[in-house]
Amino acid sequence: MSPQLALNGATPVLNRPLPHLAWPPIKPATTAAVIAQLATTVSIPDRSGIIAELEDKLAAYFGVRHAVLTSSGTAALHSAYAALGLHDGHEVLAPAYTFHATASPLFHLRASPVLVDCDPLGNLDPDAAEAAITPRTRAIAVTHLWGVPAQIERLRALADRYGLALIEDASHAAGATVSGRKVGSFGDLAAISMNGPKPLSAGEGGIVLTNDDELYYRVLLHGQYNKRCRAEIPAEHPLHRYAVTGTGLKLRIHPLAAALAAEQLPRLDDYLAGRRTLAEKMRARLRGLAGLTVPEPPNDVAPSWYALAIQHHPEQCDGIPTHRVVEALQAEGVDVDQPGSTRPLSDHPLFNAPNPAFPNLPEGWPRYRPGQFPIADALHRHTLKLPVPHDDDALTEDYLTAFTKIWTHRHELKEDPTA
Ligand SMILES: Cc1ncc(COP(=O)(O)O)c(C=O)c1O
Repeated sequence: MSPQLALNGATPVLNRPLPHLAWPPIKPATTAAVIAQLATTVSIPDRSGIIAELEDKLAAYFGVRHAVLTSSGTAALHSAYAALGLHDGHEVLAPAYTFHATASPLFHLRASPVLVDCDPLGNLDPDAAEAAITPRTRAIAVTHLWGVPAQIERLRALADRYGLALIEDASHAAGATVSGRKVGSFGDLAAISMNGPKPLSAGEGGIVLTNDDELYYRVLLHGQYNKRCRAEIPAEHPLHRYAVTGTGLKLRIHPLAAALAAEQLPRLDDYLAGRRTLAEKMRARLRGLAGLTVPEPPNDVAPSWYALAIQHHPEQCDGIPTHRVVEALQAEGVDVDQPGSTRPLSDHPLFNAPNPAFPNLPEGWPRYRPGQFPIADALHRHTLKLPVPHDDDALTEDYLTAFTKIWTHRHELKEDPTA
């Protein structure tokens, strides 16, 4: 019989060039907004113009007192950790499964990242976090992985019970909610990336959120300096005398990036509503395929669906390895992959052999072993990551057709198809 799968030479389901989802969506109004900013100013050293406008809108959107724009999500995380005054001997519980920048700024502050394994959705497990608390623990950092909120109410309660700060890395989850409340508003601080494909995109940029004035001043001092710090840190505040230099870093966002994000923000909820509809359709259909499980967030959670991370269980699916399924889907034209840079942090040399990069780490600095976090490792090995369209029903249908086709003809993916 002639092969049916594109991997074996048959006609693919899709014939569309990649990437399938251009993000952020650039409309004529988006271009006009950026051009208007170009004609206004391209450097803003204080909290004025598009910077003030976007920060005000973000604070209102997330329901917090302060939003500070930064050059990246990494810079936002660095600023948030610095604002807590972390230093040598302090420990921060952080997810074992995330993008490295959730934890890597801690190296620069010499506060140790204590990695904690995840729950079945890939998010920080509150029980494992509690078990990792020591007298040196100062904070809990949590990522809402792939836009599916973590168990944030439990983590908030845990942080309060032990007198710890809670920091949300909401980079994947801008606009996601738990019990109707935006993620990013549960932490003492939140950091959000606005890099390229993120739900709220500035191309490049970041946001720090906080309700706490003191933390706000310290976030400013970390990366905004001079005019902005002189104007905003009160003259009688003990840190005001550092306003001209700050702590020596400059982490401002570019005004053109701010203009891009400001133009996206009013549409974010509509985009996410569209993604939720199509994610629901994808989950409903994929649930029916042997050996696949889809994320099942609780009912009070509305994810941003930054990606749909599907779990493949080869043992329930004729033993076909996950990478073969990915290859087969890609051959059918599906924009699917296995996560690369978002992975168990213990895989990275920075976390398992940090000294050549950071020769002067404090005594007792953790050295992780690849494979140390069994749940994160198992999830990561078997994840198929799909983009979730916000308005492209035809693309969603094509993806689902490709899955069905592969499942129907999966014997072609066996090493010995006659077996
Ligand atoms: C979970 C998470 N945190 C932080 C970052 C860092 O953000 P940025 O690339 O804007 O520095 C990313 C970026 O991909 C991310 O996925």
